[in-house]
Amino acid sequence: MNIALLGFGTVGSHFYELASKQDDIRVSTVLSRRARPELKCAVTSDFDEIVRDESIGVVVEVIGGVEPAYSYVCAAMRAGKHVVTANKQLMCEHYDELLALARKSGVSLRCTAAAGGGIPWLSSLERVSRFDTICSVEGILNGTTNYILSAMTENGADYAAALREAQSLGYAEADPTADVEGLDARRKLVLSANLAFGVSVKENDIPCVGISHIKAADVAKAKELGYTFKLIVHAERSGDSVSAFVCPTLFPVTAPEAHTGGAGNIATLRAEHIGPQSYAGAGAGGFPTASSVLTDCYEVLRGCGSYYTDKAEPCKIGNSAARFRWLLRSGGDYSFETCAAAEAFRRYYALLESDPDALIARVAE
Ligand code: HSE
Repeated sequence: MNIALLGFGTVGSHFYELASKQDDIRVSTVLSRRARPELKCAVTSDFDEIVRDESIGVVVEVIGGVEPAYSYVCAAMRAGKHVVTANKQLMCEHYDELLALARKSGVSLRCTAAAGGGIPWLSSLERVSRFDTICSVEGILNGTTNYILSAMTENGADYAAALREAQSLGYAEADPTADVEGLDARRKLVLSANLAFGVSVKENDIPCVGISHIKAADVAKAKELGYTFKLIVHAERSGDSVSAFVCPTLFPVTAPEAHTGGAGNIATLRAEHIGPQSYAGAGAGGFPTASSVLTDCYEVLRGCGSYYTDKAEPCKIGNSAARFRWLLRSGGDYSFETCAAAEAFRRYYALLESDPDALIARVAE
């Protein structure tokens, strides 16, 4: 099977290396703006050449961002080529349309690397949802923020220095605001919830708070109380809607999430029959992510369907029912309360008006 590889950054270059060791698939063309004489395949800067090349069966998109990835992926599917992508932003923003196009074009669209990096999280949601009803999904799905929070907790590292390190290790997005403000995690939550519940939820409907307000004093306070901060995505079925949010969360130091260090991810599904199941591993980085992309290429080779699920019912976000315990901090004052997520976020946004540095965190039971 011939593959065209779009993008030769951290994930692309590692994918190329892994793919070159396989017998039954090969990267025949790389799309690159600059010449790459070191590669043993065709290199072009003209995407139309790839679309016209009938020997190419799969397009692997690891450019990131919405454009030009969106135009390329659509053109590839319209030309009858399968698509494997690691692009959560693209998948999240154009979810319904890309699923419909894959179906209409009779091709497969896979994006396992888009949530959980090297962990087979989305493919596990696919597997479990076939015979069971998934009630909730939750976990750490952003490696950069986990790296920063772990460094702050374990070594007392400075936030900015830890972010620079995460960037130099290739974990962070091109604009790390997407990591630290929780947007990357929210995109992964959308993909997870959509697949788990057979719905289509809108990214912007989900309350999202990142880690940029967590100070060294907050980390110290959490430690004193026996907790560790983690950035968590959470979604659960709630009547006809889905309750979902992204928020710093305090875990007891004994919880598996608290022990997930570095750029690690851990994601847990709860299903009616099998109960809870957790998946943990490398959530970011070249080889782990590339390995997920490669596994998807093999799924395509095995003849998987158009997408993980055929169900994508439009669904509203409703955070008024499920109740949780929350920590709120304004200035140096911490308070705890138990209420629905919608109420907790309302109080937090009100606090922000008088204190732009205010903090909210869920307290895990
Ligand atoms: N910036 C992302 C993260 C990369 O840190 O998790 C992997 O999706």
